[in-house]
Amino acid sequence: MRIAVCPGSFDPVTNGHLDIINRASKLFDKVIVLVSFNPEKQSACFSVKERLEMINAVVSGYDNVVVDCHGGLLADYLERTNACAIVKGLRAVSDFEYEFQMALANKQLCPTAETVFLTTTPENMYLSSSMVKQIGSLGGDISKFVPEQIRAAIIKRLDPAKK
Ligand code: PNS
Repeated sequence: MRIAVCPGSFDPVTNGHLDIINRASKLFDKVIVLVSFNPEKQSACFSVKERLEMINAVVSGYDNVVVDCHGGLLADYLERTNACAIVKGLRAVSDFEYEFQMALANKQLCPTAETVFLTTTPENMYLSSSMVKQIGSLGGDISKFVPEQIRAAIIKRLDPAKK
């Protein structure tokens, strides 16, 4: 079975992430959406539990996609789950240097896994979780950026005035 891991902070999951997960689900037998967190950092807006719940809500229709979390090295998780690939979305040239560095480091740490980059669709080129948080917290409309099922929960957290 060819298992791919889609790692990220997913704070929160966006339409851009969902597009990459959807496309990865067609390329691999099983896709694990992995909420990676640093146990020593508490800087996220949403808790790991909340992020897992939101992702679960938007991938429930896929029979080959599961959701998990991990607080350590991605390479250790890849080995433990026998995953053959890390799938990441590439938006712009600005993503490339950081992603390239991570891909090389992960290849050193886990030589059996390849990093596969999927280019984002043009409508998601500019989209990021940080942008969603900024627009939402300033009362802007995030409806085009996040899946419908979790929109209300995100707005409630980001813009308390709209509770
Ligand atoms: O959504 P993000 O913040 O761009 O995701 C980055 C993430 C979580 C994929 C990356 O930081 C990661 O893999 N962290 C796990 C710890 C690790 O393995 N670090 C070394 C990677 S080179």
